[in-house]
Amino acid sequence: MSFGNRFFASLFLGITISRFSRCNQVVLLDTTSVLGELGWKTYPINGWDAITEMDEHNRPIHTFQVCNVMEPNQNNWLRSNWISRQAAQKIYVELRFTLRDCNSIPWVSGTCKETFNLFYHEMDEAHGVKFKPSQYTKIDTIAADESFTQMDLGDRILKLNTEVREVGPMTKKGFYLAFQDIGACIALVSVRVYYKKCPFTLMNLASFPDTVPRVDSSSLVEVRGACIDHAEERDTPKLFCGADGDWLVPLGRCVCSIGYEEIDGSCVACRPGFYKAYAGNIKCSKCPPHSLSYGEGASICRCEKGFYRAEKDPPTMACTRPPSPPRNLMFNMNDTCLMLEWSPPSDTGGRRDLTYNVQCKRCGPAPNQCQLCEDELRFLPRPLGLTNATVTVTDFSSHANYTFEIESLNGVSDLSSFPRQVAAITVSTDQGGPSLVGAIKKDWASPNSIALSWQQPEETTLPIIDYEVKYYEKEQEQLSYSSTRTRAPSVIVSGLKPATWYVFNVRTRTAGGYSAYSPKYEYQTTGDSSDIASDQGQVLVIVTAAVGGFTLLVILTLFLLITGRCQWYFKAKMTSEDKRRTDYQNGHVPFPGIKTYVDPDTYEDPTQAIHEFTKEIDPSRIRIERVIGAGEFGEVCSGRLRTPGKKEIAVAIKTLKGGYVERQRRDFLREASIMGQFDHPNIIRLEGVVTKSRPVMIVVEYMENGSLDSFLRQHDGHFTVIQLVGMLRGIASGMKYLSDMGYVHRDLAARNILVNSNLVCKVSDFGLSRVLEDDPEAAYTTTGGKIPIRWTAPEAIAYRKFSSASDAWSYGIVMWEVMSYGERPYWEMSNQDVILSIEEGYRLPAPMGCPVALHQLMLHCWQKERNHRPKFVDIVSFLDKLIRNPSSLLPLVEDLQSLPESPAEDMDYPMFVSVGDWLDSIKMSQYKSNFMAAGFNTLDSVARMSIEDVRRIGVELIGHQRRIVSSVQTLQFQLLHEQEKGFHV
Ligand code: ADE
Repeated sequence: MSFGNRFFASLFLGITISRFSRCNQVVLLDTTSVLGELGWKTYPINGWDAITEMDEHNRPIHTFQVCNVMEPNQNNWLRSNWISRQAAQKIYVELRFTLRDCNSIPWVSGTCKETFNLFYHEMDEAHGVKFKPSQYTKIDTIAADESFTQMDLGDRILKLNTEVREVGPMTKKGFYLAFQDIGACIALVSVRVYYKKCPFTLMNLASFPDTVPRVDSSSLVEVRGACIDHAEERDTPKLFCGADGDWLVPLGRCVCSIGYEEIDGSCVACRPGFYKAYAGNIKCSKCPPHSLSYGEGASICRCEKGFYRAEKDPPTMACTRPPSPPRNLMFNMNDTCLMLEWSPPSDTGGRRDLTYNVQCKRCGPAPNQCQLCEDELRFLPRPLGLTNATVTVTDFSSHANYTFEIESLNGVSDLSSFPRQVAAITVSTDQGGPSLVGAIKKDWASPNSIALSWQQPEETTLPIIDYEVKYYEKEQEQLSYSSTRTRAPSVIVSGLKPATWYVFNVRTRTAGGYSAYSPKYEYQTTGDSSDIASDQGQVLVIVTAAVGGFTLLVILTLFLLITGRCQWYFKAKMTSEDKRRTDYQNGHVPFPGIKTYVDPDTYEDPTQAIHEFTKEIDPSRIRIERVIGAGEFGEVCSGRLRTPGKKEIAVAIKTLKGGYVERQRRDFLREASIMGQFDHPNIIRLEGVVTKSRPVMIVVEYMENGSLDSFLRQHDGHFTVIQLVGMLRGIASGMKYLSDMGYVHRDLAARNILVNSNLVCKVSDFGLSRVLEDDPEAAYTTTGGKIPIRWTAPEAIAYRKFSSASDAWSYGIVMWEVMSYGERPYWEMSNQDVILSIEEGYRLPAPMGCPVALHQLMLHCWQKERNHRPKFVDIVSFLDKLIRNPSSLLPLVEDLQSLPESPAEDMDYPMFVSVGDWLDSIKMSQYKSNFMAAGFNTLDSVARMSIEDVRRIGVELIGHQRRIVSSVQTLQFQLLHEQEKGFHV
């Protein structure tokens, strides 16, 4: 044993060499894990010394020592066995060693060294004991960071050095390593040789194989992922393998196929009773009404017996059935025309594509002598595919009996094998029958009765037996009707509802049968007020009127002159106050004591509205600086407005481009007349207008952050929930003000909210119909209106019932836009599908990271029954409560859904990356100290974190919370995967 070996022999007893591997390293050699002899060669034989000792687990520690510090010209070589390169292109050699400080050894100056050399030699195969140092290439001279002294030895302080060197590119199948000592006192405790790889991983529903990085550390290996089972490519999933074995820059993704939904990173079959018709990032949905799915993984639900799905019906639509037959089939006939009329079926089968077919049969005296007669007659508009419940028949013969059968049909009628039911009526065209009565007049009306009279038919061959008077409530659309008979050509119909419109028609009965019904007449009962006490009272009034007819005529004439003919004069002269009063009388004032909105269209002269509600600005006070957008009427610019005695302010200027016609000027300025009536911190403020010179301009306060939708998209994930709720509170407050004023916006959407530099949100874009013309989201409905479908309440789409309640629906959609950072409501669904799915009860799910309380409020705004939706005053106070009590915003919708179970408490994961590495990889390095301070310093503990924990350790931005939680889930996968593969410490 040479000088130094005496020191080492006892020193290395008791050293514990940590044996670990990282998942992105493939170890080619680790001397600490070789159980038997290493078999390395030394040259000369008395140079390096191999010592094998046992650690506390009784595993060998192979140590090589040399310490010929007293003798000059040392050249001692230690050579490894041949090491297979495997897939490595670049290898890493990690050496652990101790080195003795020469100054601490007496009498060795000149001979003692403090470095050694590392060499390698590439070979395709092992070549036994042959060793020629000249064939070896030097990797580096290795010096110790820390050397030890005699004193350290005494104190048994171990100064273990770790040095790592890279070698590559490697080309041959394997290599040798060699260590040259030139007179140092060294103990080589372990040698680990490895190469790096990006390990197999699952991301975005794709799997990425083990990948060896490029030798050139600046270039990445692009790896295409393979979609996991039951998933398919949306955008090619890719990851890039970095030189350090880290996966970088995930691009693209796979999505679960039809019949499968994503649960915890895998695609799971839809449960029975659920389906998923489209591949995508959506959940399985419950089967639509009247349909079922029995097995798992259904892509569509099968219709119940008796229900069908038409070829073009989307899978999301309920199954439907053929309609019931039409009701109340009637006819009206004159010499040349026969009009058939009926009421729609009581059951439309759940569809809207209702049509009718008419079939005609002409029958002889015997009941079975019938033949089809469509070809003989003319039907207007046509006999088949009628969309209105009426058809006119001409070219019929007199003295014939026609039977008309009306059949209701819809898109699934052809799919049903059940016999179809029809409504039938037989019409005799014998011209000898009774004739029609003349016009029906209303003699008087009271709250419960209407008195009618009519002219008798001019020619009747047979005497009139009586008249049948048929009537029904107009609103009920003939769902049921009543009739009464009278011998006189007049009747008092009683038992009616007050202030209700009724429809009347009359037919004559003679011995020859009934005449056709007269045309319909509509009359209304009077209101239920005490000033008209009873029917008798009403009769009295009429009698009085008859007696004093002349007086009444004079009074009436005067009344008409004042209220009717002269109305145009009053309309033009009315001030806004008068108009408010008129509005009030018309029932439009929603809130007493608050100034109300006046529709500029009620002004005969729109310039008057401009004068009343806006201030004219001298254009010399305006400085236009930049074009910031384009409106329907011209450019929108930003600039400055000077007002004498005030500070110059930033403004937005809407211009009316040249060549406009008067109507365009009026429509353009209409918005200013509306805006000028408002004064609220959450409504865009009108500074004034320029109308007396060209270009005509509207000047409003400048909102630095532009429209809310694009602002949120640009700052995805940047705000705290409280900030988002603050924005929503502002919008709700502006909307409360508008609804208190009696103004219905009709186009409330994030794109029509502007945001200033303090994140204050203000409602903008006023002008009703014009706004919708301007709005790229507005689409034409079947009724011809232009409506932003995704933001609009169902009743406003179906029958244009716009109200503050329909604005509340739109507000719910704005909430959703805000909480999803500007996502498009209903994503890529078509407008038609949006309408159908809303009708079927579907509502937008909570955006990721959305507090339960806010989603509940959205759902409240989206109630089908508009009176059940919250008023804006309720919305403001609800949001105020949330802001005052932020803990109410903590439960998130996803917390309530089943999160993947945390790994078991005692799971022992390999430490394959540090928490810091992991945070770096997800670009969240700024939170390292938060994780450490809260004790989340192992991946094991991070994998068990909930969204609660993430928030509690101080990650406030929702976007960051989202990124961390989803990465935690990926991490759980990786850890589980590693565990399955058996990579244990
Ligand atoms: N775009 C339209 N109106 C605007 C305003 N008032 N401020 C900023 N940008 C706008």
